Amino acid sequence: MTGARITGIGTSLPDRVVTNFDLEQTLDTSHDWIVERTGIHERHIGESTTQLGLEASQKALAMAGVDPVDLDLIVFATTTPDSLFPIGGCLVQDALGAHRSGAVDLNAACSGFMYALIAGYGYIGRGISKVLVVGAETLSRIVDWDDRSTAILFGDGAGAVVLEATTDANDSLLGWHTGSKGSAGSILRCTDMRGFIEMEGKEVFRQAVLAIEETVGITLERAGVGVDEVDAFVFHQANVRIIDAACKRIGADPARSIKVIQHTGNTSSASIPLTIDEGLRTGAIANGDTVLMAGFGAGMTYASALLRWGP
Ligand code: UT7
Repeated sequence: MTGARITGIGTSLPDRVVTNFDLEQTLDTSHDWIVERTGIHERHIGESTTQLGLEASQKALAMAGVDPVDLDLIVFATTTPDSLFPIGGCLVQDALGAHRSGAVDLNAACSGFMYALIAGYGYIGRGISKVLVVGAETLSRIVDWDDRSTAILFGDGAGAVVLEATTDANDSLLGWHTGSKGSAGSILRCTDMRGFIEMEGKEVFRQAVLAIEETVGITLERAGVGVDEVDAFVFHQANVRIIDAACKRIGADPARSIKVIQHTGNTSSASIPLTIDEGLRTGAIANGDTVLMAGFGAGMTYASALLRWGP
C-alpha cells in the first residue's frame, strides 16, 4: 500500500459579509443572543458552489505546486451542488482544465469533507497519485431567511486539499473512522432542493456531542494515540458550545481546538478545511503535529481522522 499526505490547502469565502447586526434588521434576534448561544459573529454569503470550490482548489493546487492536468481524481463533497448533474466535481474539473482527472460528488452533509478525505487516502492506497479533495457549499440557498432558529447559523464557503502519494509507505493518516445513525435522520432535514433546512436544534446539539465522542474515541484507539498526544483538534464548526462540550467529553483542552466559526458560521462540508487553514495561519498547526479532525451532520453522519501534519 502507498502512503499519502496533504501537500496543499486552499479556501474561499464570498466577499459579502452578513453580520449578526444585519440579521437583527430582519429577524427577531440579537447579536448578543447569537454570540452567546453559537459563537457566531458573522458569515459570508454569495457566489456559487462551483465558483467557491474552484477558487479553493486553485489555491490548494498552487500551494502543492501541482498542475491540474496531473490530477488523477477530484472528490467533491457538497450538500448544495449548483446542479444535480453535471456534478460539482465535473464543473470544477472542466474549469481547472484537469483533463486527465476523474471526478465524483460525495454527499455526507456536514461530514462530507471527512468522508471525502478518507476516500482520497483510500484511492491513493489503490495506486493513483494525486487527488483533489474539495468541500464547497452555498447553504444560503437552502436557508429560510425568515426562520431565526436556522438563519443565524449557516454560511457559504469552500476548502480544498491536494493529497499526493508518498514515495515510501509512510502514511500521514494515523487512524480514521466513519459512522452513521440513520434512525436520527428526522432531526435535521432538507427534503427538496428547493426547500429549506428544518432542524430540531437541541437534539442535533446532543447527538453531535455524542457522535464526536464516539468517532474520536475509535480513531484514537485505532491509531494507538492518547488524547493528550494530539496537538490540535479540528471539529466541524456548527456551534462553539458543541465544540467545547465535545472537548470536555473526550478530555481535551478546548484551547487546543481551532475555531473559525465566529467569522464563517456553519459552512457544512467546507468547515474543516477552513478551520485547518486558520490553524496553519495562526501557527496552531505546525509540521509534525498530530491533528485530529472530526465532522458530524445530517443523516446523521459522522467521521474522524488523525493526521500527522506536514512532510
Ligand atoms: O451541522 C449541524 C447543524 N446544526 C447544528 O449543529 C445545530 C445544533 N444546535 C444548536 O446549535 C442550538 O440548539 C441552537 C443554536 C440552534 C439553539 O440554541 P439553544 O440554546 O438550543 O436554544 P433553544 O432552541 O433552546 O432556544 C432557547 C430560546 C427559545 O425561546 P423560549 O422558548 O425559551 O422563549 C427560542 O425561541 O431562544 C429562542 N431563540 C432565539 N432567540 C433569539 C431561538 N432562536 C433564536 C434567535 N434569536 N435566533
